[in-house]
Amino acid sequence: MDPDRIRNERRGSVALLTLDRPKALNSLDSATLEELIVKCGQIGADESVRAVVLTGEGRAFAAGADIAEMRGLAPLEADAFSQLGHRAMSSLEALSVPTIAAVNGYALGGGCELACACDWIYASTKARFGQPEVSLGLIPGFGGTSRLLRRVGPAWSKELVLGGEAIDAETAQRIGLVNRLFAPDELVAAAIAAGDAIATKGPLAVATAKRVMQDSQDADVRVAHAIEQVAFGLISASADRNEGMDAFLEKRDPNFSNK
Ligand code: CAA
Repeated sequence: MDPDRIRNERRGSVALLTLDRPKALNSLDSATLEELIVKCGQIGADESVRAVVLTGEGRAFAAGADIAEMRGLAPLEADAFSQLGHRAMSSLEALSVPTIAAVNGYALGGGCELACACDWIYASTKARFGQPEVSLGLIPGFGGTSRLLRRVGPAWSKELVLGGEAIDAETAQRIGLVNRLFAPDELVAAAIAAGDAIATKGPLAVATAKRVMQDSQDADVRVAHAIEQVAFGLISASADRNEGMDAFLEKRDPNFSNK
């Protein structure tokens, strides 16, 4: 049997997913994408997980989709491969808990697309980001023409996708692709610490806020406002809403129950 391509370890309330094919710079083959879907399903079913951190073993986060596998694909097989990649990115994006990409090295092509499927990105000062597909006579296939554009806007995403050149971590932070930069040996701990901090908040509130932002980001602003108002009303039916406010008023820490 093939060894796992993704390690799933617990760090308190945080699930730490590590892409673990360092000899191929964690490039994303079909088996890795299938495994990501399964692992996201397991994490989604486990209420004790309060945040996910995704990183890569070795010197890459992920250096793209697996070029050796893609080279042999006929057009309909390439379509199926792209669909599989999209399902994997969407299964990560659909998790109700926050997901943080801890980009330790190369995040190229499918690797950059994978990072963009997370809620936000922390990066090592050594990270590099890019969509080099045009250098291969290809275009992005796991959401690079859509998620990256929503994250950094049309001008930068077009420079990255059409120009095909990689950018360094500082540039990635300046254009809003990366939230924060860390020294390489502090990156994963910093991302886990962010997850730990989230675990002290109201779980229903975190999940509801994420859902509202995800589901309304492409809606007309008046529809987005209406979705927020309804969700605000709905969260007010939760025991956690009462507990959070009572704790504040009684000057104590809240004891949330996810109810
Ligand atoms: N697919 C398959 N194998 C890859 C890979 C990829 N995307 N990226 C790296 N590897 C493999 C290399 O073939 C090499 O394997 P061998 O040791 O067996 O020869 C190993 O990883 C190490 O890579 P390099 O020797 O090339 O390492 P380097 O330090 O000289 O260069 C790099 C690093 C600049 C990241 C270079 O590996 C590179 O350019 N990789 C390809 C990046 C790329 O084009 N990504 C986009 C892929 S297309 C895509 O992702 C489409 C999509 O959206 C779905």
